[in-house]
Amino acid sequence: MKPFKLPENFLLGSATAAEQIEGGDKNNNWYDWCIKGHIKDNSTCLRANEHWERFRDDIELMKALNHKTYRMGLSWSRIEPEEGKFDPKAIEHYREELELLRSSGIVSLITLHHFAHPLWLVEKGGFEDKSVLWYFERYVKHVVSSLGDLASDFITFNEPNVYALYGYFYGTWPPGRKSLRLYNRVLRNMTICHIKAYKLIHKIRRDNGFTGETKVGLAHHLRVFDPYNRYNPLDIMTARLMEYLFQDMVMKSMSSGFLRPPMGFGIPLTAGKYQDFLGINYYSRTAARFKGFQDSIMPGGPRNDLGWEIYPEGLYRLCKKYSRIYHIPIWITENGTCDANDSFRARFIYDHLYQASRLCDEGVRIERYYHWTLMDNFEWLEGESAPFGLYHVDFETQRRTLRKSGEFYAELSRSNEVKRCLSP
Ligand code: BGC
Repeated sequence: MKPFKLPENFLLGSATAAEQIEGGDKNNNWYDWCIKGHIKDNSTCLRANEHWERFRDDIELMKALNHKTYRMGLSWSRIEPEEGKFDPKAIEHYREELELLRSSGIVSLITLHHFAHPLWLVEKGGFEDKSVLWYFERYVKHVVSSLGDLASDFITFNEPNVYALYGYFYGTWPPGRKSLRLYNRVLRNMTICHIKAYKLIHKIRRDNGFTGETKVGLAHHLRVFDPYNRYNPLDIMTARLMEYLFQDMVMKSMSSGFLRPPMGFGIPLTAGKYQDFLGINYYSRTAARFKGFQDSIMPGGPRNDLGWEIYPEGLYRLCKKYSRIYHIPIWITENGTCDANDSFRARFIYDHLYQASRLCDEGVRIERYYHWTLMDNFEWLEGESAPFGLYHVDFETQRRTLRKSGEFYAELSRSNEVKRCLSP
């Protein structure tokens, strides 16, 4: 394996989400889903990493990893626990966290919605109902007016395609609906929310004279879709169709304001450019099969503990392809793996960042990489049983222990390079 070097201004860090690490909040759709018995190990997000209390120590953990940037989520249900009633203590808390990150030399990137929201919004119909357009706008306005002096970089939605697919088409996530009509409607509403938020964030930061260039985007879950049998025209067609319905339709609509069918038609607000960076969450590839319209795994390839194929080349292919389409800087807003024994995570990081370095060498503008994730956390349906962390977490004691792969990432982040050849 070859040594490689990333550009000096390339920022490395990690990503987390509020409801996966903070703990202590029952007022959100995911806690409600947990107590209805949907989580494999029967854990709930009420414990998670107790990050709400331990955030100062956790920032020390980031410093030990030589983080230059950190992607953090905000909890809407903490900020606005009741409809229209904002909690000043929650804002104070996030101000302290953001200030500490800043004084530690860590650039923060804020996610406004990462699969979770308050229960009162669920009662109002959540993202199915048009009222969300107004509620989301009001939430964003409050957040950016009160935190926008401490952060200039925002992600409106994490993986709208995954959220809509699992929550409204497969029905395995809250609110457990199964309807193609709803999948499209939710994505439409999210698109309008995103565009309104994009404009609002820029406006509020500009009007208040907050320093730093404002950057707003989305964290898209992107996969490579290859035909399971590359000689089978039906598998080839299935791959293209899945790719369009799962990601291209969503990305094109959200970034331009011009809705693509079947998600929608026409321009609900105004057409424009609604992404300042292309956020890519990359984990794996789909081997598409016509038979049963199946989302399979390519046979023979390496896999992680959850059975996901490990395919670093996919990151290269996606960045190459989408940089030609969107012409904006790419931020890898998530990339990581589930590896309880920590036997392949360092290699995973090496292989993916090696692809990033190839892209940089070829002139593709990749500026940041956020490893998923800082520490083992509450992994949605898997609960506490799927460790993705650079730190191992004992959930009983909340003790965090740096993994070997974490040491490797810390060294890489210190110098932005891998000097020695690694043994496989
Ligand atoms: C999500 C994270 C999740 C990770 C690993 C991503 O799609 O944004 O919240 O923990 O995948 O499953």
